[in-house]
Amino acid sequence: MDITEAINNRHSVRQYKDIPIGEDLKKQLNALVEECNQESGLHIQLILDDSKCFDVFMAHYGMKFRNAFNYLALVGKKDISDLDEKAGYYGEKIVLAAQQMGLNTCWVAGTFGKKKCRVEIAEDEKLVCVIAIGYGENQGKPHKSKPIEKLCKEDLSKMPDWFKAGVDAALKAPTAINQQKFIISMENDEAVIVAKSAAMAKIDLGIVKYNFEAASGHKVL
Ligand SMILES: Cc1cc2nc3c(=O)[nH]c(=O)nc-3n(C[C@H](O)[C@H](O)[C@H](O)COP(=O)(O)O)c2cc1C
Repeated sequence: MDITEAINNRHSVRQYKDIPIGEDLKKQLNALVEECNQESGLHIQLILDDSKCFDVFMAHYGMKFRNAFNYLALVGKKDISDLDEKAGYYGEKIVLAAQQMGLNTCWVAGTFGKKKCRVEIAEDEKLVCVIAIGYGENQGKPHKSKPIEKLCKEDLSKMPDWFKAGVDAALKAPTAINQQKFIISMENDEAVIVAKSAAMAKIDLGIVKYNFEAASGHKVL
């Protein structure tokens, strides 16, 4: 599965099969987590076989998590100025790699037990959010997107193919409550994405930037 297929196939999955992640995939995920931590300075942790984190009222009511026993905890130092955006960017990098490994995921900032989850957080660190991961009972379904004109300032018919591919991937990115609070534009031949002001919009921004870059092969400013 190439990265564009991973972007197209990824949807939030909240119900998982009650089977552990295979040893080989665990190794690959841990290696990727380590690589992301080295590059970003974050303290992302892969936590396995923890039945407590999603065992909260909210996670059953409405959003219905089932057998969500494995998750990535996105942790970083509080004084990293763009901590939320960085967590979004590297979290999505792992999410898409997991999709390519045949796993499913769901970003979760609200419906989990912050106090119950087995993450290590130092005094000077913060838990940004978690990402449930495992073998899905289903593959989820595509989200409804805002019209392209609301998310991209440019006339796409005049844009290069790489930009179009980036915009398409950005629209498919997961965002908190599917809010899609971002605007894409082109400035001096480079893609620019900015977040509107909203709760969790900076995490979303990192996610959206990663999707755009992965699909287009072009760095976003
Ligand atoms: C930062 C962030 C936080 C989220 N928090 C939750 C959550 O607390 N509970 C939940 O069930 N889904 C959560 N989601 C999943 C979104 O609802 C989902 O990504 C969005 O509706 C788009 O659907 P899709 O991921 O299937 O494309 C979150 C997503 C993001 C990016």
